[in-house]
Amino acid sequence: MWEGLIGPSNDRWLEGARLLSGARWSIVAEGNVAPELGVADDVARVRLYASRAIVAKTQDDRAATYGEILGTCARCHHAIRDRLK
Ligand code: HEC
Repeated sequence: MWEGLIGPSNDRWLEGARLLSGARWSIVAEGNVAPELGVADDVARVRLYASRAIVAKTQDDRAATYGEILGTCARCHHAIRDRLK
């Protein structure tokens, strides 16, 4: 998606967005291991933003969506992954 954004390359953007929207998540990330952390919402958010990324046409919309996605990655990593170390 990053390469699609900065290229810019429509094909790369769409390939990344489609892969992300259909990506499988680990059971930890899905929130099945520590449901009290509420990170399953972040999985839903990434899927939602990825599906928006597929229909986003302008560079501005794509950049904004990409930012939302990365922010969601970081939120969950802060909440759960970094605590596992
Ligand atoms: C719902 C929580 C959650 C979200 C959202 C999330 N991750 Fe993760 N991520 C994890 C957890 C937990 C791990 C630790 C390993 C595992 O469970 O497989 C991980 C591991 C990783 C790893 C493996 C290398 C490492 O540093 O441990 C990468 C790369 C990664 N995530 C990238 C991303 C990206 C990019 C996004 C956003 C598109 C994202 N993650 C969103 C929970 C999340």
